[in-house]
Amino acid sequence: MAVGIFDSGLGGLTVLDAVEKRLPEVPFVYLGDNAHAPYGVRDADDVYELTTRGVERLWAAGCDLVILACNTASAAALRRMQESWVPRDKRVLGVFVPLIEALTEREWGDNSPPREVQVKHVALFATPATVSSRAFQRELAFRAIGVDVEAQSCGGVVDAIEEGDMILAEALVRSHVDALKRKMPDPQAAILGCTHYPLMQNIFQDALGPDVEVYSQPNLVAESLADYLTRRPEMLGEGAAKQFLTTGDPKRVSARATQFLRREITFEQA
Ligand code: DGL
Repeated sequence: MAVGIFDSGLGGLTVLDAVEKRLPEVPFVYLGDNAHAPYGVRDADDVYELTTRGVERLWAAGCDLVILACNTASAAALRRMQESWVPRDKRVLGVFVPLIEALTEREWGDNSPPREVQVKHVALFATPATVSSRAFQRELAFRAIGVDVEAQSCGGVVDAIEEGDMILAEALVRSHVDALKRKMPDPQAAILGCTHYPLMQNIFQDALGPDVEVYSQPNLVAESLADYLTRRPEMLGEGAAKQFLTTGDPKRVSARATQFLRREITFEQA
C-alpha cells in the first residue's frame, strides 16, 4: 500500500514529513534525484527525462501513485506525462493544485468558473524553470480573476540547501525577497513555490514582514492526499516497506536529511 514521493533532491522531504504525520498508516517510498539536482536550471526536456526515470523507479518499488513533490517537475513535465506517458493503472500527481485551491478559497474538485478572490497581490518565489513555465499563473487563471502575480526566480537557493550551506541560503532568500519587493512593494500573500523553501520559511516570513501570509505546500498537499486516498483507496500500491532512495551519495544525503527533519533518516542507493 505504498505511495511514492519524488523530488530532485531534499526539498520533497518537507512534503514527506507532512504526509507521514497526516497518514501514519501509509508507508511512503521517497526518491531524491540528488545526483541531478538542481532541476530548476535545466530545460523542460531534461526535467521530463529525469522525472519519468524517477517515477519508473518508484513504480518498481510498488507505488502505483506517485506525488511529484517538486514544483519544477510539476511545472515542466507533469502535463506531458499525464497526457501521453502514465499508464491507466498508475497515477502521478503534482503539488501546485492544492496550493492554488487554498489561495483561491476553493474546495477540492470545485471546477466552477474563475471568480474574484480576496487576495489581489501575490508574490511567487520559485526556481528559474518554474517561473519561466508560468504554470502557476496558468493554474491560477483557471480559478481566479484579478490576481496580480509577481514572480521572483530564486537562483542559487536550492543549490545552497542541497550543499547544507544555510548561511548562503538565508542571504539569497533575503536578497530575492528584496528584489521582489522592488517590483511589488506590498504583496498580501507569498507562495513558496518550491518544496525546498519551507526549510527557509521563517526567513521568508521575517524578510516579508508579519502582514504577508506565506503559503507553503507540505500541509496543503498532505490534506489533499488524504482526501484523494479516501476517494481512490485502490491507488495504494502493493509496496509495503517505507524506504528512502537517492541517486546521490546515500551517506551524504542521509546526513543532510537527518539535519533537516531532526530525526534519523537513512537513504539507500536507488
Ligand atoms: N524542490 C524542487 C521544487 O519544488 C527544487 C527544484 C530544483 O531541483 O531546482 O521546485
